Amino acid sequence: MKKRVAILISGGGSNMVRLVEDMADPAHPARPVLVLANDPAAGGLEKARALGVATAVVDHRPFKGDRAAFEAAIQAELDRVEPDILCLAGFMRVLTGDFVRRWEGRMLNIHPSLLPKYRGLHTHARALEAGEREHGCTVHEVTAELDDGPILGQARVPVEPGDTPQTLAARVLAREHLLYPAVLRRFAVGDRRPVFL
Ligand code: GRF
Repeated sequence: MKKRVAILISGGGSNMVRLVEDMADPAHPARPVLVLANDPAAGGLEKARALGVATAVVDHRPFKGDRAAFEAAIQAELDRVEPDILCLAGFMRVLTGDFVRRWEGRMLNIHPSLLPKYRGLHTHARALEAGEREHGCTVHEVTAELDDGPILGQARVPVEPGDTPQTLAARVLAREHLLYPAVLRRFAVGDRRPVFL
């Protein structure tokens, strides 16, 4: 039986697209059962529909900071499709410890830095400000600590002279699109050996 994967997004969903496209391979151990966005305007929703994946929206704004209620609404959508694995892919809401504990060991995230360096936001600008010679992205299991769980994969890119946060982000994103699918293929068969690209 293939593992059932739900993907949570907030924006364009380019990582989600790559995960879904990779899961189109009949030999892939997983299949997508839902793409869920916290923003009804997320561009990834249309891309998911075009790829034939069911979608759902749980807009965080009406919950006005009531994270537990927002997450209960997410959980209700997930309960309908009963995923085995959650992939956070450009999902920009911080999840509470309660939600994470419920999914611990079954929830992945991709972060645009070489963790443990540069947890949090604006990672490319911070790496440039620090004069880093290389940068990259990390797929990790999600734990209650932000951007801190066991590392399941990393991809490195050189920082080039004249790089801006935008040029560096684009170089990293291209590697994210290779790393996340490679990690999910392993994770879906219980193989937690990290992938290094
Ligand atoms: C990517 O840089 C990813 O690392 C971060 O969100 C950005 C946008 O991702 N988590 P996507 O295009 O929405 O997948």
